[in-house]
Amino acid sequence: MDWEVFLAPYTQVVDELKVKLKGMRAQFEYELEHSPIEFVTGRVKPITSIIEKMQRRNIPAAGMEEEVQDIAGVRVVCQFVDDIYVVVNMLKHRHDFEIIEEKDYVSRKKESGYRSYHLIISYPVETIHGEKKVLAEIQIRTLAMNFWATNEHSLNYKYSGQIPSNVKTRLKSASEAAFRLDEEMSKIKNEIQEAKKIFNRKDQNSQPEN
Ligand code: GTP
Ligand code: MG
Repeated sequence: MDWEVFLAPYTQVVDELKVKLKGMRAQFEYELEHSPIEFVTGRVKPITSIIEKMQRRNIPAAGMEEEVQDIAGVRVVCQFVDDIYVVVNMLKHRHDFEIIEEKDYVSRKKESGYRSYHLIISYPVETIHGEKKVLAEIQIRTLAMNFWATNEHSLNYKYSGQIPSNVKTRLKSASEAAFRLDEEMSKIKNEIQEAKKIFNRKDQNSQPEN
């Protein structure tokens, strides 16, 4: 198996998606006061992780492209929970890829405490042999959710997926704290927006003195 050849279209997809999502962020910043996108990252799954996942899930070599859906992965990180849904909605209305599957772990967190919104897309990428449809995973989450997931991921790595139960309990309580942080920030967001409205109204009403 020539991994470089196999992964080339995936690298292309990750790069293209990063350009497109970063483009959205830039456009929001030119046109509006607030961008629902804080930052965008992307990666091609390391070969060792692909092999490990296939072994863990009993996926035959022929099933790799269909069943390992996160070989190409991009992540959109947002400031506020509401922003996640704004981004998801915008992605649903695009015509440059098709959404295959949707997982809302934002309104329904996973057992671990993990929260994030996932879209599995089928992305048509141009290769030197013609068009190829490649699966990619887009994860959309807040900064707080990202902070939690990153730390939990490191611990999973450290303990090879067998996190001790006392650490698991801590992680669950940390995920609740992250949830409350998101809630508090959402409340402040509303306050800011209301303050802005009042400010704008005053601004309109105040006529020049003379
Ligand atoms: P895998 O979890 O990758 O085997 O795929 P899946 O088909 O179960 O999909 P799921 O939506 O559960 O997970 C997809 C991806 O989301 C994972 O590869 C991780 O990047 C992320 N993810 C899912 N669950 C967790 C979790 O409990 N903790 C962290 N840190 N990340 C998670
Ligand atoms: Mg999983």
